[in-house]
Amino acid sequence: MTFEEARAQFPVLDHLAYLQAGSAGPLSRATVEAMHAEEARNLADGRAGGDYIERILAMRAELRAALAALVSVDAEQVVLTSSTTDGCNIVLAGLDLSGEDEIVTTTDEHFGLLGPLHMSGARIVVAPPDPDRIISAVTPRTRLLALSHVLWTTGQVLPVHELKERTGLPILVDGAQSAGAIPVDARGLDYYTISGQKWLCGPEATGALVVEDPEDLRVARPSYFSQQEYEPDGTFVPWPGARRFDPMWVPSALMSGLLAALELVPDGRFERAARMAERCRELLREAGAEVIVPEHRATLVSWRADVEVSDAIVARLATAGVIVRDLPGRGLVRASVGWWTSDEDLERLVEGVAG
Ligand SMILES: Cc1ncc(COP(=O)(O)O)c(C=O)c1O
Repeated sequence: MTFEEARAQFPVLDHLAYLQAGSAGPLSRATVEAMHAEEARNLADGRAGGDYIERILAMRAELRAALAALVSVDAEQVVLTSSTTDGCNIVLAGLDLSGEDEIVTTTDEHFGLLGPLHMSGARIVVAPPDPDRIISAVTPRTRLLALSHVLWTTGQVLPVHELKERTGLPILVDGAQSAGAIPVDARGLDYYTISGQKWLCGPEATGALVVEDPEDLRVARPSYFSQQEYEPDGTFVPWPGARRFDPMWVPSALMSGLLAALELVPDGRFERAARMAERCRELLREAGAEVIVPEHRATLVSWRADVEVSDAIVARLATAGVIVRDLPGRGLVRASVGWWTSDEDLERLVEGVAG
């Protein structure tokens, strides 16, 4: 599929410079039609019976395989979650850490990771997002590195494989801003989260968690899907593989929507997204914006703005049909550039910033 054919599937792009995939990506017609079709089927046929359950289980397997392929892992290593936050909670609850243990994270993490970290029981050590500084924060008590592959603040890419290799520690990678935005190979990483609603342009409340060795993590938050058999007292035998961590019944409309979204991608999407993000940085710089340009960067583009006015800038851009966000308290405005972003979108952004 060419870029033009794929972009034409997203009606919102016809009228808005939609630069907000870091929060929620644009929805395609195919995605929404798949969701409607599924609900129409449920409306007509109900949501019960052997055939229905068989269909749901088959969809779960198909979605697990599709998400596994996205990040080059086995389907048996994929948990179907509702979000990155969900995935972080599953991991941190299962690790059974205490106040004697430490987790090293960075200053630039989202609450989707920070909240679960805080509730893990471990001492949280915060380092600047620099590989050497992160490694310097490791002590004999460190049990886990927990950080983003792509920082939601600046779009900086952290060398997650290298950090794992240099420390030999288990690593929980928040992949909310990477999966679907840049090529991801999650092999060799202990835990990797995926958000469906962002760069994958899937429905809200979809996502995944990759667990490299599912048998090594405790099932701390079981659901009906966790067990292959259980006793009256609740003792249970978990399924083999990562499905033992599946936290919920994923509505079939969400599964079919995400499956449709995963299919609708043009050739060369990552190269195109990276190229457009670079173009965005260049145009903003030419327009006088103080753009943050990390040495290793993905598809989020942030520039400085006074903390007091960053929300006003976002509101002004929105009235001009340009959808970006500010990062409260950080003095940054952020544009999310996807493979679907056009030159015209970027021109509208830059006009709005300059005006
Ligand atoms: C880096 C990062 N982590 C986690 C989240 C939360 O994602 P989810 O809503 O999938 O839990 C976000 C959302 O903006 C994010 O940017």
